[in-house]
Amino acid sequence: MTRIRNNVGVSEVVQQSDQDLKIMIGHERICDCPPNHINCMTAKEWMKSQIGVWQFSYEGRDIRDKKKHPATYPIALARRCIDLFTHQGELVVDPFVGSGTTLVAARDANRNAVGFDLHKPYIDLTNERLQNRMLFTDTEQVVVESDARNIPDYLEPETVSLFLTSPPYANLLNRKRKNKSRKGEDRKNDQFGKVEQYSQDPRDLGILPLEEYGKAMGDIFKNLLPLLKFKGHCVINVPDMWWENQRITIHITIIEALRNVGYELRNIIIWDRTNIVNRIGIFGWPRNYITMGVTFEYLLHFWRPPNGSKKADISANETCQRRRRITTFKANCSGNLF
Ligand SMILES: C[S@@+](CC[C@H](N)C(=O)[O-])C[C@H]1O[C@@H](n2cnc3c(N)ncnc32)[C@H](O)[C@@H]1O
Repeated sequence: MTRIRNNVGVSEVVQQSDQDLKIMIGHERICDCPPNHINCMTAKEWMKSQIGVWQFSYEGRDIRDKKKHPATYPIALARRCIDLFTHQGELVVDPFVGSGTTLVAARDANRNAVGFDLHKPYIDLTNERLQNRMLFTDTEQVVVESDARNIPDYLEPETVSLFLTSPPYANLLNRKRKNKSRKGEDRKNDQFGKVEQYSQDPRDLGILPLEEYGKAMGDIFKNLLPLLKFKGHCVINVPDMWWENQRITIHITIIEALRNVGYELRNIIIWDRTNIVNRIGIFGWPRNYITMGVTFEYLLHFWRPPNGSKKADISANETCQRRRRITTFKANCSGNLF
C-alpha cells in the first residue's frame, strides 16, 4: 500500500498489488508522559471526565446537514474519547468513519488515525474535511474505502490504541421518517418521508435485521481484537430506538456481541443530548410512557483485557494464529512482493 498526496494535499492510499495492503502509519507515543498513564490528561482534566453523563455542543466544523451524512456525532465527542484513551502519536481507528469526524478530532489531538467506510461519497467528504490539516504535524489521518470486514488486511496486530466509532444502527434507519419527535410545522421538514439510510449495498450493516446485525458486529470486532494493544480501548456510540411500540435495545446487542468475542465492558457513559434537541413533540400522552430516544445515546467503553488475564489469553492465541497466517502469506508471495 502506497500513500500519495493528492492535489489538495490529502494523503490517499493506493493499492499497488493484491498483497500490498498494509498501511504504514505511526502508532507509538510521541509525548513524554510517564509510562503508566493511560492518557496525556492533567488531574484537573481527568476529573471533568469522571462524570458518567456527558454533554457536547456542535461547532462550525461539525456536519449537521443530513443530506451530506444522516448520522454524525460531534467533533467534541470524538475528541473527549481520544483524549481519554490515547496518548499523542498513538493510533485511533474508526471502522465506520462516515463523514470523518473521528479523523478530524484525531488530527486536532495529534493522534494518527485510519478510518474505513464502504461509500465513496463519505470518503470524499472526509478528505474534504481533512483538507484544512495543519501543515506541520507529527501525525497522519488516512481514510480507506473498504468494508470493515477487511480491516485486518490493512493494519498490523497490536498497533491500535483505540477503536472509536458510531456504527450503523441495524436496519432501524432503513424506513421512511415520520418525524414523530418533532413538533408542529417542524414535522413536515425536508427529512419527512425520506429513508435516511446510507445505502442498500448488501455489505452495509444498516440493512440488517437486529439479530443478523449483532452477528455481523461480533464477527467484525472479533477480527479487530488482535489489532488492539493489550489494554487498548474500544468505544462504540449507539442509541436505542422504538420500533412499532417495542424498545429495540441496540446497546445490549452490541455489549453481548463484543463480550462474546473477548472484549471486556468497562464503562457505560450516557451522552445527554438534551442541550442539542429542541422543539420536541409530545409522545404517548396520556396512556403510554415512552422516553424519547433523541434525548440520549450510549457510549459503550470496552477494552482488550490485559495480557496474562484469562480473557486475554483467548485473544492472544488468536493474534498468534493471525501472525502465523500473515508470515506464511508473506513467505508464499515474497516472489511477487520483491
Ligand atoms: C453512523 S455512520 C458513522 C458516522 C460518523 N461517526 C460521523 O460522525 O460521520 C455509520 C457509517 O458506517 C458505514 N458502513 C455501513 N456498513 C459498513 C461496512 N460494512 N463497512 C464499512 N462501513 C460501513 C456507513 O456508510 C456509514 O457512513
